[in-house]
Amino acid sequence: MSEEEQLLTNPYKRKKYKLLWYTPVLLTLLAVPFLVPVFSLSVSLPSVSRWFWFSSSVEFSFMVVGDWGREGHHHQKEVASAMALLSRETRPRFIISTGDNFYEDGVASAKDKQWNISFENVYAYNWLENIPWYAVLGNHDHLGNYTAQIEYSNKSERWNMPRPFFSVPVTSHSGDNYLFVFLDTTPFIRDSYGEVARKNGKQSWRLQLSWLEKLLNSSSSRRIFVVGHHNMYSSSIAGERGREELRILLKPILDKYASRIIAYLSGHEHSLQHLQPQGCSGMDHFISGGGSKTDSLKDPPKDAEQYWYDCCKVLSLGVEDKERPRSLFRASKHGFFVFRVYRNEIVAEAYSQKAKLLYRYRKILR
Ligand SMILES: *[C@@H]1O[C@H](CO)[C@@H](O)[C@H](O)[C@H]1NC(C)=O
Ligand SMILES: *[C@@H]1O[C@H](CO)[C@@H](O)[C@H](O)[C@H]1NC(C)=O
Ligand SMILES: *[C@@H]1O[C@H](CO)[C@@H](O)[C@H](O)[C@H]1NC(C)=O
Ligand SMILES: *[C@@H]1O[C@H](CO)[C@@H](O)[C@H](O)[C@H]1NC(C)=O
Repeated sequence: MSEEEQLLTNPYKRKKYKLLWYTPVLLTLLAVPFLVPVFSLSVSLPSVSRWFWFSSSVEFSFMVVGDWGREGHHHQKEVASAMALLSRETRPRFIISTGDNFYEDGVASAKDKQWNISFENVYAYNWLENIPWYAVLGNHDHLGNYTAQIEYSNKSERWNMPRPFFSVPVTSHSGDNYLFVFLDTTPFIRDSYGEVARKNGKQSWRLQLSWLEKLLNSSSSRRIFVVGHHNMYSSSIAGERGREELRILLKPILDKYASRIIAYLSGHEHSLQHLQPQGCSGMDHFISGGGSKTDSLKDPPKDAEQYWYDCCKVLSLGVEDKERPRSLFRASKHGFFVFRVYRNEIVAEAYSQKAKLLYRYRKILR
């Protein structure tokens, strides 16, 4: 199997649902009685007009890139040029950085030369120039001077990080209120990075959680995106499956407001992934960590395989089990995500460093 195929398919699903040559014929014959009413429905006027309406009314769009600052190396430059191409096409209102903005040890000050060689000079395309960035801190950023990343917001036209955790309200063309919540996840993490973050920044994760709870409780927005560096779930790194600390500490609060949260966006793993850990009606999780270096994807151990890879279980007549955890997409690719927000749906797309569309997902908004 080529790398591409391996990335874009689910290896377990492939093994289990091997089709025989006559399956399409059989399925077609079986489906005829069902298809007649479906076809007559799908050409009815409302759905046609809805399609036209849909194709012409993006409310706003934004890009998500993570794990990038490597002086342009490790394909950072190529990803930046693909972002510029997509920017020309989609005119994003802003770019979200999911953290690990500067390798290996963040920045030393707001005058660190990394600001130019890993950020300003890399994303230096006309089509990216006037777009604001909203950035969170990653574990590597905490190894440096994290307050310098906050201070740089005052020096730069496009860099925005007012505090280690903050929120940004966004009003769409039609006047709908969206809320983007930016978290600092490193203080939650048990390992040495977390220790550094708690020590240097004197950052209490408890304080952050009570801030979050208050914010979500008082917000009237029914459409919320939450951004943090660490991923809560993963369909790659063996044995870890995302950060347990976040599943224990952060997830219960998000669950409480889950009906209003569209997605949790993270980086940390150097790949692109889309997961639905609570099935297709739950919150979506996107990992956008392909801003420069990539990690190879690892298949989980046997016990985890059952949890993650027996997931897109399609019953014989194409009926999905909606409650099952699903891993819909994973690619060890240099790249980023683009989100297009429509009045009643969002479209998430993953792009490679060559601006090639790798994946598209559409979700109806309630
Ligand atoms: C962190 O960066 C800020 C802004 O450049 C600077 O004022 C401060 O002295 C730095 N702190 C350390 C410990 O270097
Ligand atoms: C970055 O480059 C600009 C333009 O060349 C320069 O004015 C600025 O001082 C540089 N900043 C740093 C932090 O080196
Ligand atoms: C940025 O500038 C504003 C207004 O001038 C000031 O209130 C704020 O303290 C500054 N922030 C930092 C991190 O320097
Ligand atoms: C906020 O919290 C209060 C008290 O726990 C609760 O009654 C209320 O429903 C919450 N509001 C929202 C919007 O979740």
